[in-house]
Amino acid sequence: MVSPAVSHRLPDCFHFPNRYDPDRFTPERAEDRKSPYTLIGFGGGRHRCIGQAFAYQQVKVIWTVLLRQFELELVHQNYEPDYSTFVVGPRQPCLIRYRRKYKPTGLLRSYK
Ligand code: HEM
Repeated sequence: MVSPAVSHRLPDCFHFPNRYDPDRFTPERAEDRKSPYTLIGFGGGRHRCIGQAFAYQQVKVIWTVLLRQFELELVHQNYEPDYSTFVVGPRQPCLIRYRRKYKPTGLLRSYK
């Protein structure tokens, strides 16, 4: 059993691991590719997730639709991770304020 929550904070692998720094995944830095087991959110080795490419595609579609249509804002700035769940998320309540960016037209109407 391994813990992504611990592995993904190893300073030998990730520069300032507790800092929110998406640029660490750019091709120039590629901190996640230092070894086949640096980033293990999808497991590793023989039983590595076979749905990874599909999962990334789904997540990109979901965020593309959400970010295009809504402004999102944390209600409270500080939140703590909840390690009691298999997939670590923010401890509840973690409230998000959202506002539609524009009135949907045409096809987007069907999203109402
Ligand atoms: C964000 C979404 C997903 C995450 C975080 C995720 C994560 C994982 C992880 C950590 C494992 C390894 C489990 C282990 O070591 O025993 C795994 C295995 C697996 N995943 Fe995913 N997964 C995701 C989406 C998907 C999707 C969309 C599919 C299928 C369409 C899928 C199919 C599988 C299968 C079949 C295995 C078992 C592979 C094997 O044992 O050889 N996963 N996944």
